[in-house]
Amino acid sequence: MADAQVPTMSNKLPETDNLAIGFKKEIILDQKSRNLIESYCQMPSDQVVPHLYAVREKAWKVFPWPCVGMWSFVVPTINTLPQYSSIILRVKEKGQRILDLGCALGQDVRQMIADGVPDHLVYGLELEAGFIDLGYDLFLDRDTLKSEFISADVLEKSGPNPKLAAWDGTIDIIYSGRFLHCFGREDGLVVAMRMTKLLSNRAGSVIVGECLGGKIDREVVAPVGKLHLYSVESFKELWAQAAEGMGVEFKVDVQAHPGSQAHMAHFGEDVVSLVFWVERL
Ligand SMILES: C[S@@+](CC[C@H](N)C(=O)[O-])C[C@H]1O[C@@H](n2cnc3c(N)ncnc32)[C@H](O)[C@@H]1O
Repeated sequence: MADAQVPTMSNKLPETDNLAIGFKKEIILDQKSRNLIESYCQMPSDQVVPHLYAVREKAWKVFPWPCVGMWSFVVPTINTLPQYSSIILRVKEKGQRILDLGCALGQDVRQMIADGVPDHLVYGLELEAGFIDLGYDLFLDRDTLKSEFISADVLEKSGPNPKLAAWDGTIDIIYSGRFLHCFGREDGLVVAMRMTKLLSNRAGSVIVGECLGGKIDREVVAPVGKLHLYSVESFKELWAQAAEGMGVEFKVDVQAHPGSQAHMAHFGEDVVSLVFWVERL
């Protein structure tokens, strides 16, 4: 049951408290995210908001990503993909493995499990070990969840990571939500190639997700570092380069939507959400 006093997502953005780009002091909680917390955690409605405030405070201290400041760390995005039901079926019926890469606190991992996917087939990878840890506190499943998470830098800046290497060639579906724009162009290519290495060499294995983009391809500087806004064309070029570098063939479908991340409009009015499906041939 929804709590009537709780603010819900609206198309009118709440006031920013100016602590960092996008930080919203007051909770923003849409009904679908509330439903996930209430049903997955079996949490009474009146406990949801205090619980989220407590987790958000700790998460902000781990790393002040806009997704934490804007409360989107509780908002699943995988279930907004047009292919979501087929993704779920591939995992449920064919036993394929899915990795949420850059999973933060793992709301998409829990959404898939809430939608019937066996937890042992869902994997999570996240730079910040503190986010993975807080995910168990957020979803109250530390002792029950069988999904495997690793804390790793997908760029492997400090050298090859054996935990990451252990997954190489084993992942059928990589989900990457609000992630690929988090790197400058050079690092973006390293990420795309590393994702390709994780992917199973079976035809049909896929890297799917969404990221910020722009009508004009460009690098932008945010408090968290350098970001890259791909255009539809430059996104295709990125994957053509990754395919060439890794000796594979991809079919790339990418579409620009006005989309859920329009609140990042401080990067320019042309900011869009790029929704993509990069499939191995
Ligand atoms: C913008 S957040 C999006 C999180 C989540 N996918 C979502 O949609 O809410 C990007 C996430 O990627 C993680 N990340 C950033 N750089 C990374 C890296 N080099 N390796 C692995 N994860 C990284 C961040 O810690 C953060 O949790």
